[in-house]
Amino acid sequence: MIPYGKHHIDEEDIKSVVKVLKSDNLTQGPLISTFESEISKYVGAKYSVVITSCTAGLHLASIISNMKKGKKLLTSPITFVATANSSLFCGAETIFADIDSSTINISIDSIKKVILKNKVHAIAPVHFGGLPCDVKKIKEIADKVGAIIYEDAAHAFGASFSDGSKVGSCKYSDMTVFSFHPVKSIATGEGGAITTNNKKIYEKLIRLRNHGLEKNQENFQLKNNFFTNDLSDPWYYEMQELGYNYRITDIQCALGLSQLKKIDKFIKRRRELAKKYDLAFENLKNCEPAQKNMRDLSSNHLYVLKINFTKLGKTRADLMKEFKSAEIITQVHYIPVISHPYFKKKKYKDSNFPNCYNYYNSALSIPLFYDLTDKQQSYVIDQVKKLIG
Ligand SMILES: Cc1ncc(COP(=O)(O)O)c(C=O)c1O
Repeated sequence: MIPYGKHHIDEEDIKSVVKVLKSDNLTQGPLISTFESEISKYVGAKYSVVITSCTAGLHLASIISNMKKGKKLLTSPITFVATANSSLFCGAETIFADIDSSTINISIDSIKKVILKNKVHAIAPVHFGGLPCDVKKIKEIADKVGAIIYEDAAHAFGASFSDGSKVGSCKYSDMTVFSFHPVKSIATGEGGAITTNNKKIYEKLIRLRNHGLEKNQENFQLKNNFFTNDLSDPWYYEMQELGYNYRITDIQCALGLSQLKKIDKFIKRRRELAKKYDLAFENLKNCEPAQKNMRDLSSNHLYVLKINFTKLGKTRADLMKEFKSAEIITQVHYIPVISHPYFKKKKYKDSNFPNCYNYYNSALSIPLFYDLTDKQQSYVIDQVKKLIG
């Protein structure tokens, strides 16, 4: 079977993990901060905080954005549910703008319309499939209403904006959150990172990741509590706010560091593969690539085809079965968040999201990952031509 996405693990990765397993620190060892510095260096941000998952990171970003009852997060309906849930964890509300049909990212025009009717406190642009949103334009809108921006870059580690800065540099946002789940650009098992250029945000993230505990003497609130005979007490720390255990392990960071060394070749190969698909599918009757010819900035996490199923004369379920019989796994990214039962209860108006539903009704992701061989890709192309044409 050829999966739609997959990690790449080599001997160096395995050795790096085994080295930690034989060391004294499985959890809070030295590799956490090394991994964080390397991520900061790579994306060009001042600070990084690694956490147990992108979902955990989005939750923390939402807390930092002071989301709570009565406040609204604006995001895209074409994303994984974790983006929309991040503000719900804090008791706030999530509202949605429609997508842009060519990028499959949140539409700038739709954001403008939604913002006219709603007081929005935070915006979470999602770099769908690794293609960067125009965060510069989103910031212009956000600044007018004082909204915070946290980017959901689960798909976009290794992607760049059109001015050459990397996704994660937070040039136009307050925070960026990545996922290192195995199908993503690099893998740590479960895992993720938040980047920021703001020291206060960074220090709060460090506390929130670890139960709300403050260990830096300079930041202690009860200044008189940690001295005995004028010497600071070595065991002292303070819980200053409600936090979580979102700590990632040294074992995972060893894998992440080893994977990070290969990021350039991972992204280069994904770009090559995506461009080859674009070329091969240029003149098909019943389908066209989503995010066509936008491969050079994208980290190319996904390769999605938009298929006209009416013209094709078969259902998506049948087509997926046919691909499966040909040993190819396909997937749908994503069921619109607003059409899940949990969100249906909130009564979003489907008619406000025509592009989202048009896209959803046509989308099918085909295999794209670093280890996909030329031979496998040619086979997938042949099958697409045969089954969709
Ligand atoms: C767009 C998006 N955001 C957030 C997440 C959550 O990432 P994680 O699995 O690391 O929590 C995912 C996971 O696939 C995702 O696709």
